[in-house]
Amino acid sequence: MPTVLITGANRGIGLELSRQYAAAGWRVIAACRAPDAATELHQLADQADVQVMALDVASGASIGALHDVLVGAAIDVLINNAGLFGPKPGAEQDFGQMFGSIRYDVLDEVWRTNAVGPLRLTEALIDNVAAGEQRKVVTISSGIASIANTEGGLYAYRSSKAAVNMVMASLAKDLAPRGIHTLALCPGWTRTRMGGPDAPVPVANSVAGIRARIAELDASMSGQFRLYDGSLLPW
Ligand SMILES: NC(=O)c1ccc[n+]([C@@H]2O[C@H](COP(=O)([O-])OP(=O)(O)OC[C@H]3O[C@@H](n4cnc5c(N)ncnc54)[C@H](OP(=O)(O)O)[C@@H]3O)[C@@H](O)[C@H]2O)c1
Repeated sequence: MPTVLITGANRGIGLELSRQYAAAGWRVIAACRAPDAATELHQLADQADVQVMALDVASGASIGALHDVLVGAAIDVLINNAGLFGPKPGAEQDFGQMFGSIRYDVLDEVWRTNAVGPLRLTEALIDNVAAGEQRKVVTISSGIASIANTEGGLYAYRSSKAAVNMVMASLAKDLAPRGIHTLALCPGWTRTRMGGPDAPVPVANSVAGIRARIAELDASMSGQFRLYDGSLLPW
């Protein structure tokens, strides 16, 4: 069966991706920052082919350590799911993501997690992906990073996801000669800790859509920005 590596696999969309791929019989490498605290992943690992591994995508050293452990292992699909929104409106009036009060420590952490992390991890694991049969790299992006549709504000989050969209579009070109396809996918506004309780899309539906898009990903779709339901998103 194929192998998928999922980052941020301990909760939210990452955990549901791990559950659904495991249920479909895939081998799952579930990467998360704190494996010792990843109770639900360990329960899943008791019943299915799931390996829980340590990974902080904002740390070059952590990515290097994962690379060393995985040398020679084939990965069919790499899913860059781990993401950070940063402080949200409502929690504090001056939450550091609006023009005039940008917190650059927040911006730096969000960029390192959402934009630098997927690029660095893809570079580190590209030989693993090239050794897989499916050869796909997918990043969970966000529709609110669409430059065409921005409403302003949320500078750290929007700009980090817009940057990773460029990374994915560029990787599609650079990796085409190796038969590797890429996709930037928005999961929709999904009911997770990040999406909050008012989000309209249940996580199971979002992940079913993400899996369907990954299944159909081929050269004709490589480098695109799509919603989980398959519709194309404007850059
Ligand atoms: N939910 C939505 O409505 C929505 C909409 C658009 C896009 N997205 C994107 O979908 C992806 C998954 O989000 P979600 O809704 O499942 O959010 P979530 O419930 O907040 O989960 C985020 C996950 O990312 C992990 N993470 C954060 N920083 C990390 C790092 N430096 N290294 C490794 N893991 C890290 C978290 O790990 P810890 O448990 O260790 O913190 C957690 O597992 C994100 O990329 C997000 O931007 C979500």
